[in-house]
Amino acid sequence: TVPEKVLHEMSQFSRANFPATRMRRVRRHDWSRRLVAENHLSVDDLIWPIFVFDGKGRQPVESLPGVDRIGLDQIPATVESACRLGIPVIAIFPATPSDLKTPDAAEATNPDNLVCRAVRKIKQEAGDALGVLCDVALDPYSSHGQDGLVRDSYVINDETVEVLCQQSRVQAEAGCDIIAPSDMMDGRIKAIRDTLESAGKTNVQIMSYAAKYASAFYGPFRDAVGSSGNLGTASKNTYQQDPAQSDEALHEVALDLAEGADTVMVKPGMPYLDIVYRVKSTFGVPTFAYQVSGEYAMLSAAANHGWLDRDKVILESLLAFKRAGADGVLTYFAEEAARLLQP
Ligand code: PBG
Repeated sequence: TVPEKVLHEMSQFSRANFPATRMRRVRRHDWSRRLVAENHLSVDDLIWPIFVFDGKGRQPVESLPGVDRIGLDQIPATVESACRLGIPVIAIFPATPSDLKTPDAAEATNPDNLVCRAVRKIKQEAGDALGVLCDVALDPYSSHGQDGLVRDSYVINDETVEVLCQQSRVQAEAGCDIIAPSDMMDGRIKAIRDTLESAGKTNVQIMSYAAKYASAFYGPFRDAVGSSGNLGTASKNTYQQDPAQSDEALHEVALDLAEGADTVMVKPGMPYLDIVYRVKSTFGVPTFAYQVSGEYAMLSAAANHGWLDRDKVILESLLAFKRAGADGVLTYFAEEAARLLQP
């Protein structure tokens, strides 16, 4: 925030100098607006999330209009599109068949689970031309829809961390480049880093969902991975952050960096740009934001009604992340935005 005294001086200065100072001069022409632009959005800023299911073809997700779950047979075309458009990273989320969901989420550590098969297929197609990110949390695999193991209605921390380490290991061994823990258990970054080191995966990155809030904006994602029915009316409030908190996000980021995170993520995105700004200005590390499913659903629904200009709100919302300090954005608009950003 600009101190009161400086604001006063600025206003005196401008008043004294009108018409010498006309703020609109530099806004008059497109060439001038481009020349003075402080922030830029490019394809290099995009992480493209995809939902995969065990089958063929595509399945629409009702609460995410325009986003489909894809079968493994669709991966080559998806990879081809990402590479052609220049998108740096794809993030994979599995819609696990419900008969494979159990209280202990054992499928999460199966080296042949859907995510691992998808990673192998993407790497087979793209090699190092495309980065692959995998989420680490148990909710796509647990019959209760929680991100960890549950005992006496409480998500237990340390036992969960052990499972998350095994989940990270199988994903890294399948070829994943970026492990992205989204579970919010304490101490998991160090434990996962140690696991990756001892598995010889020293160059696999960790992008920690360091500041992740207990948000109602995740609803459509839970539909897409089929966990909303499992979770029911239970909440994730005992591990995800309270939306009332701001300083606590910095504490979380500091811990995750100390534990070995390479990059950090703030989630959700648009309602939490203040957190993005504080994280980037405090730590100066690569900082990402997740424009989550509910944000996509809002903008997309309004655009589908003709109430918002779809292309313009996509680009404006993504540029706002850059202005707040984000180095990149995980967004369901990634493929569409990449097309709009082609030179
Ligand atoms: C898994 C996970 C969630 C999201 C990303 N990883 C759901 C949750 O925490 O309940 C939500 C992303 C979105 O809404 O787009 N832990």
